[in-house]
Amino acid sequence: MSDLIWSKLQALLDDGLNAVNSASDESVLTALQKKYLGKKGEIQAYMQHMKELSPAERPKLGALVNEARDRLEAKFAEAEVKLQNAKLMADLKLRREDLTLPGRMPVRGAEHILQKTQREIEDIFLSMGFEIAKGPQSEWDYFNFEALNFPADHPARDMQDTLMLENGSLLRTHTSPVQVRTMLNYEPPIRIIAPGTVYRRDDDVTHSPMFHQIEGLHIEKGLNLTHLRGILQLFAQSLFGKDTKIRLRPSFFPFTEPSVEVDIACIFCGQKGCRLCKGCGWIEILGAGMIDPNVLKAGHIDPEIWSGWAFGVGIERVAMLLHGITDIRLFFESDMRFLSQFTK
Ligand code: DAH
Repeated sequence: MSDLIWSKLQALLDDGLNAVNSASDESVLTALQKKYLGKKGEIQAYMQHMKELSPAERPKLGALVNEARDRLEAKFAEAEVKLQNAKLMADLKLRREDLTLPGRMPVRGAEHILQKTQREIEDIFLSMGFEIAKGPQSEWDYFNFEALNFPADHPARDMQDTLMLENGSLLRTHTSPVQVRTMLNYEPPIRIIAPGTVYRRDDDVTHSPMFHQIEGLHIEKGLNLTHLRGILQLFAQSLFGKDTKIRLRPSFFPFTEPSVEVDIACIFCGQKGCRLCKGCGWIEILGAGMIDPNVLKAGHIDPEIWSGWAFGVGIERVAMLLHGITDIRLFFESDMRFLSQFTK
């Protein structure tokens, strides 16, 4: 009885091995795999003979079935590799490729001109002991306006119209809200700059609905406008050249008192008067002032003890002046002909 089973199993194995050997494509191979090695396949079916065998012979049947399965599996794996290689070779034969063609150079990425300008400004202030602070772009009305001394109905809000978000916050119109956030989180003395993206309802050749600013904030005992002037003078000289002159003009911001607008002597015409300085020899670069006592109070800082100054500068504006760029939209169009001019 058992001899018959052994020889039948051997014959089945030989059949299987031969069939796999001559399988001409992968679908045939898959079908054979099911036929021989599947759960209900022919090899497994041999286990049914178990009950016809004496207890002594049973382990032998198990071992033989396992061996047959192992040999078939190895054969299948070998056949699969062989078929795949044959397919690859056939595919390669069909191709006509000129391997002598030169490769394509990948384009090398570089820092965006605005990022570079931001870093240059940051480096100037970092070298003077300022640290970098950050705040959220979706900001609460409280930090963007209220805490900065813009009451709810103040007309200065109109100049900073922006998008409201569904949760009642807004896209911040300037980096000034980082002032109060920083005051609430750190004890004075404070010396920070806060770079970031800001948003306004503005759109022309020098204004973009999304742009970037850097806020400066310095709180210490006994600060006055001369300290502000000294730092901004150094800033302008580091950025635009060591002979750059600045001037302060009276202005208005709700969060500073007094407020100033800072101009640099026109770097294009040497103050002779040109189109870029509109003939007057000066170019406005930023807003600044002594921090209003109400803003210090909102930041839980006692204005009787501490005083401070702040400024806000537009990064696009600085980059435009430094590189003679006349249309702000060029920064955001991702045109390589424009961007690659600043990657040296
Ligand atoms: N936040 C002002 C703006 O966006 C700029 C500014 C002016 C910032 C005076 C200041 C400041 O910190 O003191 O127009």
